[in-house]
Amino acid sequence: MDDLGRQIAYWDTAGAAKTFTHPLDLTWLAGVGRSARVLDYGCGYGRTMAELSDHGFRDVSGADLSPALVDRGRRSRPDLRFTVLEDPPGLPYPPASFDLVLLFAVLTCVPDDAAQRELVAELVRVLAPGGLLYVSDMPLQDDARSRERYAAARAADPGTPYGVFTTGDGAVVRHHEPARLRALLRDAGPNPGPRPGPGPGPGPGLDLVHERPIDVTTMNGNPARALQLLARKR
Ligand SMILES: C[S@@+](CC[C@H](N)C(=O)[O-])C[C@H]1O[C@@H](n2cnc3c(N)ncnc32)[C@H](O)[C@@H]1O
Repeated sequence: MDDLGRQIAYWDTAGAAKTFTHPLDLTWLAGVGRSARVLDYGCGYGRTMAELSDHGFRDVSGADLSPALVDRGRRSRPDLRFTVLEDPPGLPYPPASFDLVLLFAVLTCVPDDAAQRELVAELVRVLAPGGLLYVSDMPLQDDARSRERYAAARAADPGTPYGVFTTGDGAVVRHHEPARLRALLRDAGPNPGPRPGPGPGPGPGLDLVHERPIDVTTMNGNPARALQLLARKR
């Protein structure tokens, strides 16, 4: 699943016309000052950046791999600061550049374990100590259609992690076991020593501050459960 962390062909075509919906809970950010340095990773057309900016956050940046989605964002909100990533998940910022990072409906687009670890490690690198990572993503769904899609992907390739499937319009996405998502955050960061698999491993990590299940409508218009996690860099 090496290239699935960068499904740019999808996000620049079918994906570029979607509506994204995961809601931001501003009460979770009550302790974050309006001058906080905010990064929205996988910002798409800048939906959550716009919401933060409209609520008074003055230093909001967004980064995404899709030029088409970023063009859409720049057209609708020329006042916001967008960056197209040349080599995701690499970010063009020094360590500790941000006080808050959003990661909304992006891990679902990065199905591979090692690619997810690399992405979260990069976000931890650019977060300042004490900074917050706000994740919204898709847990494993319990409806028959989802279970059939997970099973079909496994039947086609037994090495496929449970929860990975291909959408009707061609994106390969993953729904997550919640315990694995929590561990991904807890152990995040550059690997200080050898580990069995590729990519970063147990690092400085993040402490979970809040967690909540919510109802969302997916980008393809289906009702689903989502999971939001707020974690603080140690
Ligand atoms: C479902 S959309 C969510 C967009 C936005 N976060 C929101 O909630 O409105 C997923 C976004 O992640 C971007 N994306 C997917 N894989 C990425 C990667 N490896 N690095 C950066 N962005 C990525 C896509 O281009 C798309 O904009």
